[in-house]
Amino acid sequence: MSAAAAPHLKIEQVTKRFGETEVLKDISLSIPKGAFVALLGPSGCGKSTLLKIIAGLEAPSGGSVHLGGQSLDGVPAYKRDIGVVFQSYALFPHMTVNDNVRFGLDMRAMPKAEAATRVGEALELVKLGGYGERMPSELSGGQQQRVALARSLAIRPRLLLLDEPLSNLDAVLRKSVRVDIRELHERVGATTVMVTHDQEEAMSMADTVAVMAEGRILQLGTPEAIYERPATRFVGGFVGNPPASLVRALKRFEGGWLFGDTIWRPEDRLAARMDRFNRVDLVVGLRPERIAIVAPDAPGALRAEVRSSEYLGGGRLVHLDLGGQKIAVEAAGAAPKTGTSVGLMPDAGAVMLFDAETGVRLERE
Ligand SMILES: Nc1ncnc2c1ncn2[C@@H]1O[C@H](COP(=O)(O)OP(=O)(O)O)[C@@H](O)[C@H]1O
Ligand SMILES: [Mg+2]
Repeated sequence: MSAAAAPHLKIEQVTKRFGETEVLKDISLSIPKGAFVALLGPSGCGKSTLLKIIAGLEAPSGGSVHLGGQSLDGVPAYKRDIGVVFQSYALFPHMTVNDNVRFGLDMRAMPKAEAATRVGEALELVKLGGYGERMPSELSGGQQQRVALARSLAIRPRLLLLDEPLSNLDAVLRKSVRVDIRELHERVGATTVMVTHDQEEAMSMADTVAVMAEGRILQLGTPEAIYERPATRFVGGFVGNPPASLVRALKRFEGGWLFGDTIWRPEDRLAARMDRFNRVDLVVGLRPERIAIVAPDAPGALRAEVRSSEYLGGGRLVHLDLGGQKIAVEAAGAAPKTGTSVGLMPDAGAVMLFDAETGVRLERE
């Protein structure tokens, strides 16, 4: 294998137990140099534990981590050349911004002049040049988080790890720091692994997303692939804003599917896809933005009853009852009246079919 093709960070069959609890189950992941990978999953699925194992703050129960072709087994955290930024910025409150950023360099006993240059560069990178003499308390939350980033970048890390870096910021700031971090990545190109439970953050910032649940990686791919071709119903129902509706369908006859108490006769090509697997039971994933509201008796439409709608600015999210199951649809224009029956016409190409038992997507191209 050529050096260029070798992964920069290689995680192989990593497991982690706390007492009897297996928190990470056989995690393998290869990350090329310069990539920005997000570990995305619900709270408690093991994201931070995996990040701590990479950083050397926790030891794995099994498996290995390699960085730049070198095993990190037994290498202490401070010798890994890995920058870590946590949700709480953890700046030293009694030290100036300059001193905070220089901290990691002093730990490495870097000569003063060289350290001063590095600190200046790092603060420029996060657009805080000129803030060096301030105290952290004189900065906004977003600026403090950028100081924490500068502190990790000043050591010129081989790897940058970000654990929920935006969680402590308010909604407006979160969106602007999101763009700041992404632009910083474009400029610096540091290989980055970011942990987040927020799918919008993961999808908008990273070029590769690893969706995790219960200590496993369910899917690894570009944001587009994760969104368009979720590997399981969990991924489909987790990703997207709002995520896909997942509804159970029971086959009643060739080309006829029961959703709760309403029969659906999908248009021919979709019906053929649904019949192809010889299942009597499917989970159908429908993206709210890929369904049109039509007349209740339109051929090929699902019949549903309007429950409520939310104004989103630029559109509405309509919540409907589909024979006892919930489904959401994005609609432009006026909201249909609560209690009325409407037809729902899914964009056939965007309909996702999952195995009702295993949750695995049935069509894999
Ligand atoms: N030091 C620890 N001792 C025992 N259990 C832990 C420890 N750290 C984490 N856990 C447990 O491991 C699971 C995963 O935690 P964590 O990696 O922090 O999840 P996430 O970052 O995805 O929210 C949780 O159930 C958590 O309670
Ligand atoms: Mg965490």
